[in-house]
Amino acid sequence: MRVLVTGGAGFVGHNLALYLAERGFDVVVLDSLERSTSFALERLRGRGIPILKVDARFFDGYKNFDVVVHAAAYVSVSESIERPVEYLDNNALGTAKVAYNCARHGARLVYLSSAAVYGNSVRLPVPKDHPINPVSLYGFSKWLGELIVNHLNTVYGLRYVILRLFNVYGPGQNPSYAGVVASFLERALRGEPLIIYGDGGQTRDFIYVDDVSQVILRIIEGDAFDNEVYNVGTGRPITIRMLAEAVKRVVGRELDIVFKGPKPGDIRHSYADNIKLLI
Ligand SMILES: NC(=O)c1ccc[n+]([C@@H]2O[C@H](COP(=O)([O-])OP(=O)(O)OC[C@H]3O[C@@H](n4cnc5c(N)ncnc54)[C@H](O)[C@@H]3O)[C@@H](O)[C@H]2O)c1
Repeated sequence: MRVLVTGGAGFVGHNLALYLAERGFDVVVLDSLERSTSFALERLRGRGIPILKVDARFFDGYKNFDVVVHAAAYVSVSESIERPVEYLDNNALGTAKVAYNCARHGARLVYLSSAAVYGNSVRLPVPKDHPINPVSLYGFSKWLGELIVNHLNTVYGLRYVILRLFNVYGPGQNPSYAGVVASFLERALRGEPLIIYGDGGQTRDFIYVDDVSQVILRIIEGDAFDNEVYNVGTGRPITIRMLAEAVKRVVGRELDIVFKGPKPGDIRHSYADNIKLLI
């Protein structure tokens, strides 16, 4: 089975490509390399995974794949508020182009969406039928992507699964754009204070990247493209303050914690109701 991972030189994408390649899949990575890391590229090259340097919006080879995992996106909440049109173009229109190509050529689609589509939670844990009310352009752009994917199913019979990922952590996360785990660890290893935006009482649901890959593997192996949406998280809330304390313990250093004002677009509580997940 041939699998294309768009954004496959990014954090989630490259871990997924390695995970699938190790299990015998014929995996190809597509990435503009705009926001990839040398860490990811070295790991992919080390495993002999082909890397196509191209923008997902302008790629014309979708017909060569059975499954496309669409991970390519801009992923920073704060940047999305400053650059809304670029986020809508890349994340929403980009998803339209990828999904339409999948529909035309009969490829099945896994669209990586985000818990950011929910905005501030009115029910906890967050069920997949929770009201959609994104409070950032990032979340809004990911939600538009979902609507487009669903509509292309109605009109063209596209087969898909949408995964709303909660906070993914693991090797190769780019701390410049996202990922509080990566940025805490990076600062801790340099002996710098950990910066918490807000009071640190906000909760997140941190899921290890290989657990996300395992969900995707099961969907592909089981041909479980049921045109549904799933939450992908652990269901266990952790406060940012608890995370900072855990990082201090793991790194074994006495580090200061510095509190700054909350970031715009930051939501208060987020953890998943996973009741319908496959694992
Ligand atoms: N990391 C998380 O915690 C998390 C949480 C929820 C959802 N997601 C979703 O998972 C996906 C992957 O996120 P990530 O954390 O790996 O981000 P990332 O920034 O590490 O990876 C994204 C990759 O996509 C590439 N890219 C961006 N636009 C592209 C385009 N038009 N064509 C080709 N390549 C392009 C970038 O160069 C980068 O390598 C995203 O769709 C994101 O919305 C991630």
